[in-house]
Amino acid sequence: MPRLYNFSAGPATLPEPVLARIREDLPEWQGLGSSVMEVSHRGAEFMALAAAAEERLSSLLAIPKGYRVLFLQGGASLQFSAVPLNLLRGRETADYVDTGTWSHKALNEAGRYCAPKVAASNEGATDFAIPAQADWQLNPEAAYLHYTPNETIAGVEFHWIPDSGPVPLVADMSSTILSRPLDIGRFGLIYAGAQKNIGIAGLTVVIVREELVGEAMSCTPGLLDYAVQAKSDSMQNTPCTFAWYVASLVFEWIEAGGGLEAMADYNQRKAMKLYGAIDASDFYRNPVAHECRSWMNVPFLLADDGLNASFLEQSKAAGLLALKGHRAVGGMRASIYNAMPEAGVDSLIEFMAEFERRA
Ligand SMILES: Cc1ncc(COP(=O)(O)O)c(C=O)c1O
Repeated sequence: MPRLYNFSAGPATLPEPVLARIREDLPEWQGLGSSVMEVSHRGAEFMALAAAAEERLSSLLAIPKGYRVLFLQGGASLQFSAVPLNLLRGRETADYVDTGTWSHKALNEAGRYCAPKVAASNEGATDFAIPAQADWQLNPEAAYLHYTPNETIAGVEFHWIPDSGPVPLVADMSSTILSRPLDIGRFGLIYAGAQKNIGIAGLTVVIVREELVGEAMSCTPGLLDYAVQAKSDSMQNTPCTFAWYVASLVFEWIEAGGGLEAMADYNQRKAMKLYGAIDASDFYRNPVAHECRSWMNVPFLLADDGLNASFLEQSKAAGLLALKGHRAVGGMRASIYNAMPEAGVDSLIEFMAEFERRA
């Protein structure tokens, strides 16, 4: 069976060269007579891989001095807890911008540790949009301001960075990290699950300003305490070595492709092509306000919901996988992360036109 185009929102498609390299390395890695999955994380070879991965990520994102990069576990969802546990620092509240399902989950989880406030919300809006920052209610007493730059489910993306003033800005970048250059210095903390643009499930990357580390609530489990993890180079317990290894290959792949500027051009081109095809047709519709359409997750609705099942069946038969939209939005969703080739987007557009013709 050949590889097909996989539009899954995550775990998501991996770059072909990364898969090829994994295949090559799998039985035996670096002359050790074992695979990377079977060697100690404390051995010189794995320690070197971990250090090189951090260095490469720091270089790709141009992470300034004064930040710690952590390679953790538990997914982005565990960061919904780790963030308040570490960043409240004696304060009783934090601000959350609620632009969809994932912001909402982060907000709810923070409610276990403090009384978070909704600084802005798009709940109840007729289309998916982001409230203008001028309308946000920011609390100067907030321990931090949390937002979700890309809402994976509805395909709502910030194409700007909020101004949080002196309050540390925290971002759940799970579905947008590494899709373009980023001004890290604007953020107090960024976290991202790996299974979209970094690699495979199991790994969670946290980039945190050093001055925010070291004041975790006393009840914080050691593994969730950024100071504990920073001190042990993210090896407080056995890390997810294979996912870390895959991330290192993905970082190499991005670097070899010209880094994040090149990635951004590529991603924007793919997304604009797909939105262009959707907008040019009366048969398909994207429900998101134009200025916040995601480059990574493109939901689209068919004019007749009754055709959803046959669209999915026929697209699968045409080699286009995992296009079913999340139940919260309905219709379809094409996730077109970094590793989705432009040819995959072209095939999808061709299929959509053909399906429309036959409908
Ligand atoms: C924006 C965002 N945040 C958080 C999550 C949850 O991630 P995890 O399953 O790694 O906990 C997801 C998963 O898709 C996501 O897209």
